[in-house]
Amino acid sequence: MTQYRPLSAVVLAAGEGTRMRSATPKVLHPLCGRPMLLHVIDALVALPLERIVVVVGHGAERVTKTLQEQLATEMPVEFVEQHVQRGTGDAASVALTAGVFDLDAEDDLLVVPGDAPLLRAETLVALARAHRETDAAATALTAVLDDPAGYGRVVRDENGDVDHVVEQSDATPDELEIQEINTSIYCFRRGLLAPALRRLNPENAQGEYYLTDAISVLKETGHVVVGVVAEDPYEIVGVNDRAQLAEVEAALRRRINRRWMREGVSMTDPERIYVDATVELEPDVQLLPGTILEGRTVIAAGSVIGPDTHLVDTIVGERVIMRNTVANEAEVGDDATVGPFAHLRPGTRLGPDVHIGNFVETKNADIGAGTKANHLAYLGDVEVGPGANIGAGTITANYDGREKHRTRIGKGARIGSNNVLVAPVEVGDDAYTAAGAVVTRNVPPGALAKGVPAEIEEGWVDKREADRE
Ligand code: UD1
Ligand code: CA
Repeated sequence: MTQYRPLSAVVLAAGEGTRMRSATPKVLHPLCGRPMLLHVIDALVALPLERIVVVVGHGAERVTKTLQEQLATEMPVEFVEQHVQRGTGDAASVALTAGVFDLDAEDDLLVVPGDAPLLRAETLVALARAHRETDAAATALTAVLDDPAGYGRVVRDENGDVDHVVEQSDATPDELEIQEINTSIYCFRRGLLAPALRRLNPENAQGEYYLTDAISVLKETGHVVVGVVAEDPYEIVGVNDRAQLAEVEAALRRRINRRWMREGVSMTDPERIYVDATVELEPDVQLLPGTILEGRTVIAAGSVIGPDTHLVDTIVGERVIMRNTVANEAEVGDDATVGPFAHLRPGTRLGPDVHIGNFVETKNADIGAGTKANHLAYLGDVEVGPGANIGAGTITANYDGREKHRTRIGKGARIGSNNVLVAPVEVGDDAYTAAGAVVTRNVPPGALAKGVPAEIEEGWVDKREADRE
């Protein structure tokens, strides 16, 4: 009979991850823009859990802080510190004795390592279900790998049940031939795990308290231990070094890309498209090769991004075309075209229908609807009205060596080629500046500014109209 008991989870994340050779704690290494450990916790929060307890140790403060900043869940997540990393068994025991669990409650406990970021919620659900259906004391998720090197091997008894797990460094040559490995993902009866952990000893090759030994202790004391083989063996791979990090990231990337393609995004060559786990895409977005989308980037329907475009925290409207562009903290309005070879820096806001062409750099730039800056310009600390045209080679000289100043360009203004607008300065609505002008004073609406520094001819636009008549 299936036993329904409340379910909680413990995540083991205190290890140093020596094989990463990194100043960053292993579980904080990012995969598709999100720390490894958060991928594991994302899978857990999709389950109906009472609580999650994360065992931290190496870089405890940094790990706790990063998680608290980036976790968005109502589920109680608690952090307990394992001061000395004496092994996975000791880590589990630190979690159980930290005072967060009700010692009298009959419940089930998922135990997962912090270094298995491909783990999916569905797999954990299946594990918990198998555990309840068999009413086991412990249920271990196992996997059959072509190359089991590095993992603990699962030794089955004559009935085909799990007998014990032997670590690679403690295994005999025969045991090393076993291809069924321990994933380090388990479901335990918490009330039975606690006493089993007290019976562990560190008499093994690594001198550690192995959580895997709790399996043999339970088995020896007459309890049922079940091994469930994972459907997809690669979902459970642990990250121990940089090569595994890269492999796992590639797998995660493929998973993210497949998800977006199912939701209506086209990818010309998905192997060459990099989308962070935090990015949002709408249907009919088209991503071309070499596109890298990071952070809180959002792309609205019908936009075509790439080739070779790198967007960080950038919000792109509908039907935008962005080629060979680098953008960071920018907003791009509907129907705009950007690039090839444009650089949108923080604080850039392009209105609808704006055209930003090759070798144009923008920063703190508010560019009005339909305005064009098609070639070779630097537009920094600037506000440009709608319908203006910025000639090739225009520079807003926004920095006087001490402070940044703003430039204002009115609606419909025509900035000539190769201009320098020396800020603070304003060019009025519908005014013109002549080729090569260096503008150091405000240009009233409808005026022409010309020369170096520019002379101002008031009423020039009206005069020209009058002359034509
Ligand atoms: C562990 C298993 C092994 C399994 C493999 C799957 C043991 C003894 N071995 O080996 O059977 O095949 O995972 O990937 O359990 N940790 C702590 N505190 C410690 C030690 C480790 O919190 O004192 C954490 C680590 O941060 C890590 C997890 O536990 O997230 C697993 O530890 P790790 O050292 O990676 O174990 P493996 O050698 O991979
Ligand atoms: Ca590991």
